[in-house]
Amino acid sequence: MEKIYVNTGSRPYYIYIIENNWEPLITALSSCVKSKKFFVICDENVYPLYYPTLDKLLTKHEYEHNVVVIPPGESSKSLECANYLYTEALNAHLDRQSTIIALGGGVVGDISGFIAATYMRGIGFIQIPTTLLAQIDSSIGGKVAVNHPAAKNIIGSFYQPNLVYINVNTLNTLPKREFVGGMAELIKYGYIWDIEFLNWIEKNIDSILSLNTNTLIHAIRRACEIKSHIVERDEKEEGLRVILNFGHTIGHAIEAATNYKTYIHGEAIALGMVYEAKLANRLSLIEQTYVYRLIQLLEKCSLPTKLSGIDSSLLIDKMSLDKKNRGGNIIFILPTGAGAVDLYTDIDNTLLHEVLST
Ligand SMILES: NC(=O)c1ccc[n+]([C@@H]2O[C@H](COP(=O)([O-])OP(=O)(O)OC[C@H]3O[C@@H](n4cnc5c(N)ncnc54)[C@H](O)[C@@H]3O)[C@@H](O)[C@H]2O)c1
Ligand SMILES: [Zn+2]
Repeated sequence: MEKIYVNTGSRPYYIYIIENNWEPLITALSSCVKSKKFFVICDENVYPLYYPTLDKLLTKHEYEHNVVVIPPGESSKSLECANYLYTEALNAHLDRQSTIIALGGGVVGDISGFIAATYMRGIGFIQIPTTLLAQIDSSIGGKVAVNHPAAKNIIGSFYQPNLVYINVNTLNTLPKREFVGGMAELIKYGYIWDIEFLNWIEKNIDSILSLNTNTLIHAIRRACEIKSHIVERDEKEEGLRVILNFGHTIGHAIEAATNYKTYIHGEAIALGMVYEAKLANRLSLIEQTYVYRLIQLLEKCSLPTKLSGIDSSLLIDKMSLDKKNRGGNIIFILPTGAGAVDLYTDIDNTLLHEVLST
């Protein structure tokens, strides 16, 4: 069992990383919740896989609990679904001392956190992430949100969980495509922060992709440490935290340009990282070999590395709508050397067109 302490200003908490064991959850819960009343939110895919075990455990320890199951997928991250969950929370008589448990991927985590942050102006919130992306990224750092029909993640807040409980063996049931999508974010941590971690991922890539438990625990622990470290220093993305967006300026534009249908998030981020690395190379910030290294590793994961059929003007239009933009300038997080990135705002449009067309 690994334990990481996340010392955010608004609320410090622990991340537990566990190999196929739910019992430690009870000890962890008892030290961070206000009452024995829980409201579990999960989606239809995760419910039959993991809720029965959680249900048994909570019952055994006489923790009062209700469960609400929502449809899987991004469309559940809506105000309509939030309204349904508020109603269910009221029906279950949740009060200020109660705790919401998000059992699932980033969709369930984001909307559950949004409900926890807003129901009665904020109640307890536990994350039990079950996708690689949720375990290394979305469950940590307190960004909670729902989508507006016109923009993703635009209605939200910063609300740190009381606990993140990662059982790495839940990844055994995750569809392969979802798992490798999470790999893009894992690789991102090497590029933005830790070249040693990147070297380690390269050496252990086969073992990670074959879901070796010890390798997974190491990978997830290091990713969680890096994200926690960044979030501790800049909880509300006023400075350092923006580096987590490497690959995301172009990646988000790709998602928007393809109406969120062609690529899952991690696939779009893989493409985004490749093209942002190419841009960095054209600006002489990094060597071409460092770009190839990224492409090779992503290809090893069967992630896409070449854009096709998306017009560069459409991508640039989408980028100009990014909510990270400052004063009308598109923001890029570009690699500047081994395991390092920096923020750039004044990228020439012609160069951008050129790079996106390669
Ligand atoms: N809050 C943040 O900081 C942050 C960061 C990154 C992404 N996000 C958000 O995360 C969301 C994406 O999260 P995601 O990639 O986890 O997608 P997801 O929650 O949609 O899960 C992907 C799919 O896997 C299924 N699933 C989940 N766990 C499973 C398991 N163990 N076994 C079998 N199936 C399982 C789900 O039902 C779903 O169909 C997006 O909405 C994104 O905006 C938030
Ligand atoms: Zn991402």
